[in-house]
Amino acid sequence: PAAQRTKLAKVINFIGKRVLVHGWIHRLRLQKGKAFIVLRDGTEYIQVLLSGDLAEAYQTSTLTLESTIAVYGTVEKLPEGKTAPQGVELVADYYEIVGLAPSGDEAFTNKVQENADPSLLLDQRHLTLRGETLSSVMKVRASLLRSIRRVYDELSITEVTPPCMVQTQVEGGSTLFSLNYYGQDAYLTQSSQLYLETCLPALGDVYCIQESFRAEKSHTRRHLSEYTHIEAELSFLTFDDLLTHIETVIVKTIQYVLEDPISGPLVRQLHPEFVAPKLPFRRMEYIHALEWLNENGIKNEDGEEFKFGDDIAEAAERKMVDTLNVPILLTRFPVEIKSFYMKKCADDPRVTESVDVLMPTVGEITGGSMRIESLDELVAGFKREGINPEAYYWFIDQRKYGTSPHGGYGLGTERILAWLCKRFTVRDCSLYPRFTGRCRP
Ligand code: 4AD
Ligand code: MG
Repeated sequence: PAAQRTKLAKVINFIGKRVLVHGWIHRLRLQKGKAFIVLRDGTEYIQVLLSGDLAEAYQTSTLTLESTIAVYGTVEKLPEGKTAPQGVELVADYYEIVGLAPSGDEAFTNKVQENADPSLLLDQRHLTLRGETLSSVMKVRASLLRSIRRVYDELSITEVTPPCMVQTQVEGGSTLFSLNYYGQDAYLTQSSQLYLETCLPALGDVYCIQESFRAEKSHTRRHLSEYTHIEAELSFLTFDDLLTHIETVIVKTIQYVLEDPISGPLVRQLHPEFVAPKLPFRRMEYIHALEWLNENGIKNEDGEEFKFGDDIAEAAERKMVDTLNVPILLTRFPVEIKSFYMKKCADDPRVTESVDVLMPTVGEITGGSMRIESLDELVAGFKREGINPEAYYWFIDQRKYGTSPHGGYGLGTERILAWLCKRFTVRDCSLYPRFTGRCRP
């Protein structure tokens, strides 16, 4: 009978029918008179049974993991008690080898050893990517991006694509990657925020999903040199509106990821005890976070009690959010430890209308703020940070030609995924992670 060509995720629709499938040999068990193959094509897995002449054939004994094959056969539902992916088996009547893989490389795919040298595994990323865990995280990642685009769409926020090659900094000169741009100095963007601000008068509220680059010198669990930055900018709103918007976007996005028929089950598999965040998040001011840290005996970077103006470093931040074990909107950071563009609080000019969203196990996943509206105040901000405002004329113009109260934020895609999929490091949430010293494959 004729065979219907199908992807593995659709095989389930052809029970009792003859199909043609293609894929990579994910697992292989050769027995006398039988061969069991778990085939993978990226959409799903399926068990293929070769028996009789097919199993006896000379070439069956040469099959290796990661070889590609084309298989014709009939889809059969497995009886209760027998387990295989999707509860079905493809009983093959014919197959062909498309590309025979050498034996040995499978160690990097199916059976990635827990204690293998991480740098060796990263060198073989193109192969480890084929493994079940990493490919699951990448599917959740795709769903996360799809879901957040859906949320922005529902909020009538317009997507834009700002440039990656720029001549301005956003988050401090120390993490800039420089490049020679036809003989001029340029950088890889640290954040698209300033460009998003220029879109407000033209397009209304906007967002982008764009790579950001940071020359982070330290090795940490949550810093990459290149990461996928989801940023949004909104005008004519208050700081409180911004906080409500941020928590709503996060809650809705996670809800969509969990409702999705592909990513929902994957999250539950990767992170069985994951608790979906609920509205509203706990709000906590920076000053009260310092009190909490001091009451709990956690020290600052100098090993002393926290005092106003101290940065809350990664370890302390994580300790606090892990202990409280709920999402936290941490607000009102001091001017000195935040960026030049942040608006000061009307009731206390020592602090800013700024927010970090902290999640258990990861800490900061989002940073945002209201922006300075007044031209003079912005110029003072540049001066304080020692930034030459010349290259920022276009950003400054936003305050000249119809300024507005506005604010926005950036979400780190890999950090959200580390939290959602329970990965120890953001490196496990990036397709080809770049961090200090690594720029391959
Ligand atoms: O807190 P950050 O530096 O804020 C900004 O860049 C703002 N200009 C965003 C805005 O308001 N439009 O970065 C925002 C988020 C962080 O909360 C974190 O999740 C992520 O980006 N992030 C990183 N993720 C991975 N590796 C790094 N080196 C990161 N640096 C920041
Ligand atoms: Mg930040």
